[in-house]
Amino acid sequence: MFSLNHLKGNTYYIDAPTNIGVYKLSHNDCILIDTCYQGDMTDHLLATLSKYNLNVKSILHTHAHVDHFGSDSYIKSKYSCTIGAPKVEYTYIENPQFTNLLVFNTSPFRKVSRSYPTGAKVDYLYDENSFDVNDVSFSTFPLKGHSQNQKGIITPDNVIFTGDTFLDIEELKSVKLLYNYDVEGALDSLKSLSNTSYSIYIPSHGSPLEDVKNTIKYNVENLQKNANMIFDIIKNSPIGLDELMSILVKRYKVTEHATQYLIAQACITSLLSYLENQDRIKIIFENGVMKFSPKD
Ligand SMILES: [Fe+2]
Repeated sequence: MFSLNHLKGNTYYIDAPTNIGVYKLSHNDCILIDTCYQGDMTDHLLATLSKYNLNVKSILHTHAHVDHFGSDSYIKSKYSCTIGAPKVEYTYIENPQFTNLLVFNTSPFRKVSRSYPTGAKVDYLYDENSFDVNDVSFSTFPLKGHSQNQKGIITPDNVIFTGDTFLDIEELKSVKLLYNYDVEGALDSLKSLSNTSYSIYIPSHGSPLEDVKNTIKYNVENLQKNANMIFDIIKNSPIGLDELMSILVKRYKVTEHATQYLIAQACITSLLSYLENQDRIKIIFENGVMKFSPKD
């Protein structure tokens, strides 16, 4: 069972492993911002909603990774609520198996095929600066990078739910590698979020923050440190992806499990794309092996 925590005005959050925003429309009716994994966590979430007598009218999404929408189909069928999501992102909520494509670009090995939640129909999409739902106006803030079209969701209380744009400093110290679809987009989003002044920032993983600048600075430096470390390896001699992974798996202490390996590889390839887009590295071929080499 999770707890319901007050933030400001009508804005609360449930402290599940993925923080879930709650905007109260009345004593009992509410709008959720993101949900959590299917299975046990959804059981805990449903028990929490019941404990606090909360009736869900809508679910809004920052982005569509399974730890943010795994409960949607259960909540939608129980409360007959609507679901809103950013453009592009909604396709994963309706087709959770597409998540495989984030780490594996064909039908996956059975070893890495995961069980996904049942898809849920998304009722409306938002890509503008603001949108109305259940007679309440929410604003959005573009936070592309971690996913293709992630959005910060801002409640009328000036509280922003930032999805996975940044991690808590302590959490990032232990994780080190945070998945990004597009590193350049992630850096741009972090920098523009740093120049905002919302009352409270709620990351999906970590504690609410009133001042976000130091945390964002740490996240930016961590991404740049990871990119520079890869560049330093490549600078010494051209290297292929498998050889690079064999070095980085040890440095980042990646578990020798196919799924974990492929997720780490996706993190690394996004950093390689970033370096190539920055004209710091180029792709070459040596004896049929594709390698990364410093740009002349
Ligand atoms: Fe995510």
